[in-house]
Amino acid sequence: MGVAHSSLTAGPDPGRFITLEGIEGAGKSTQLSALERLLRERGLELVTTREPGGSPFAERLRALLLDPHSNGMSATTELLLLFAARAEHLEKTIRPALDAGAWVISDRFTDATYAYQGGGRGVDLASIALLEDLVQGPLRPDLTLLFDLPPAVGLARARGRPGVVDRFESERLSFFEAARAVYLERAQACPERYRLLDASLSLEEVRAQALAATSDFLDRALGGPPAEPCP
Ligand SMILES: Nc1ncnc2c1ncn2[C@@H]1O[C@H](COP(=O)(O)OP(=O)(O)OP(=O)(O)O)[C@@H](O)[C@H]1O
Ligand SMILES: [Mg+2]
Repeated sequence: MGVAHSSLTAGPDPGRFITLEGIEGAGKSTQLSALERLLRERGLELVTTREPGGSPFAERLRALLLDPHSNGMSATTELLLLFAARAEHLEKTIRPALDAGAWVISDRFTDATYAYQGGGRGVDLASIALLEDLVQGPLRPDLTLLFDLPPAVGLARARGRPGVVDRFESERLSFFEAARAVYLERAQACPERYRLLDASLSLEEVRAQALAATSDFLDRALGGPPAEPCP
C-alpha cells in the first residue's frame, strides 16, 4: 500500500524545462518548430512559450517592454517589469505544465535578463540573482541552447525581418557585444546545462546542431532523473 500510495501522491514525472537563448537574429524562433517536432515525435507532451510574455498579463508587459515609446524607462524599472512578467509566466504557464508532466520550451528566459540588463545595461548581476531566487525559487532550466553569433550578423538578420524594429533591436552594437559576453560566461560556468551552438552557420547547419544537442539531452533525461541545476 505504501508504494501505491506514494506513487499516487507523487503524480506524473515532472517535465523538463528547455530554454533558447542568444542575441537578436540568432535563429531561436526559427528553430523552435524543429525542436517542437523532435519532442512530439518522442511522444512528449510539450508547451512552447516565450519571454517576455507567455501568459496573458505577461504579454501585456511584453508589449510595454518592447514598445519604442517606452524608451527612457530606467534600467531598474525594466528589470522589475521583466521579473513581474516572469512571475506571471511561471505561475500561469510554466509551473502548471511542468507539474502536469509536460515539457516546456521557452524562447528566452532569465539568461536573457543577465545578458541584456546585466551585460547590456550594466545592472549589477547580484541584483538579478536576487530577483531570480525570489521569483523562481530553485527552478532553473534543465537545458539551455545558446545560439551564439557575432552581433553584427544577428542584427543584420533581425533588421531584415518584416515588421517594426523593437526597443531592444535598436540598441547599439556594443550593447549586444556585452550581452553576448555575459551569455558566454554563463555557459562556460555551467557546461552541464548549456549547449553552445554556432548560430552564424546556415539555417540547416544550426538546425542540425540544435537537434543533436536536444536529442542527446532527451536520451539522458528519459533514462533517469533530472540533474541538479547550476545555481
Ligand atoms: N542560420 C541562419 N542563416 C540565415 N538567416 C537566418 C538563420 N537563422 C535565422 N535566420 C533569419 O534571420 C531572421 C532572424 O531569425 P529569428 O527571428 O529566428 O531570430 P531570433 O533569435 O528569434 O531573434 P529575436 O531575439 O530578435 O527574436 C529571420 O528572418 C530568419 O529567417
Ligand atoms: Mg525570436
